[in-house]
Amino acid sequence: MDDDDDDFNVKNWATLHDAALEVLSTPSAHKKALLTQVIAKKWFDGTSILKARDISSGGKLVADTPERDALVTIVSSNSNKLKLGSGRSIESRRKILHSLSHIESWAIDLSWDIIARFGHEVEKEREFFDDFVRVALDEAKHHLLLTKRLEEIGGKYGDFPAHDGLWQSAMETSDSLMHRLVVEHCVHEARGLDVMPNTINKFRENGDEESALLLETIVYPEEIGHVKAGLKWFKFLLGDASERGGEETVKIFREIVEKKFYGALKPPFNDEARAKAGFDRRYYEVAVDAVV
Ligand SMILES: [Fe+2]
Ligand SMILES: [Fe+2]
Repeated sequence: MDDDDDDFNVKNWATLHDAALEVLSTPSAHKKALLTQVIAKKWFDGTSILKARDISSGGKLVADTPERDALVTIVSSNSNKLKLGSGRSIESRRKILHSLSHIESWAIDLSWDIIARFGHEVEKEREFFDDFVRVALDEAKHHLLLTKRLEEIGGKYGDFPAHDGLWQSAMETSDSLMHRLVVEHCVHEARGLDVMPNTINKFRENGDEESALLLETIVYPEEIGHVKAGLKWFKFLLGDASERGGEETVKIFREIVEKKFYGALKPPFNDEARAKAGFDRRYYEVAVDAVV
């Protein structure tokens, strides 16, 4: 742990919106994770001011991009410097853990951004905030555990370059809660499920059972819950008139993916994990045809 761990701003935030802004404006990924744990505790233990249902924005605007320090060098998403390798060498395994840890740090910001940016649209739905505070807490845990594991095998967060593609696509959906849910919280989260079994194998086959188990028993099952939350609130926004899961729901979902998701949705898909999140093949099969 850093010497300045205590040095992040723990306050009695008046609203969850204010607390979310605090994380987004904190430059250090490590401190974003620690702050998330503090806020989530306040939110769920019901003893703090955050118990109040006041989650309104109070007119405060959310910055386009969260604060980030320069610890990790950001390069273009197609840079050769981002090649992770097969996991055979320890350097490759460090790179994979670093890459995952970095993605988790953006996932922390994404969870708070959906609360801060769109909370006023679902202000009466306490469960929406419960769900995304829980997602933020999971992502914070993932970031901290992956960084710890990286340190155990001789690396540290900041050792390798990374890209910020996840935020680039977040910005494309900053004007619509429904689009944000579909693109970031369903499509991107589900993509994480697709690649996870292969990543786990890279560690297992090369003798790093500890990293394999961390991914397999903690990160992977919790990511399924994140896709589930994204899909649940997408359906909620469709309203009572929709079939909520019927053909119309799927059609609207696919139209949003076609319009707002940039990049290729490539198989193989992890049908089993996606199905556990309620994200059946109808949601992504035709969308794939559209981009191939
Ligand atoms: Fe995660
Ligand atoms: Fe996630």
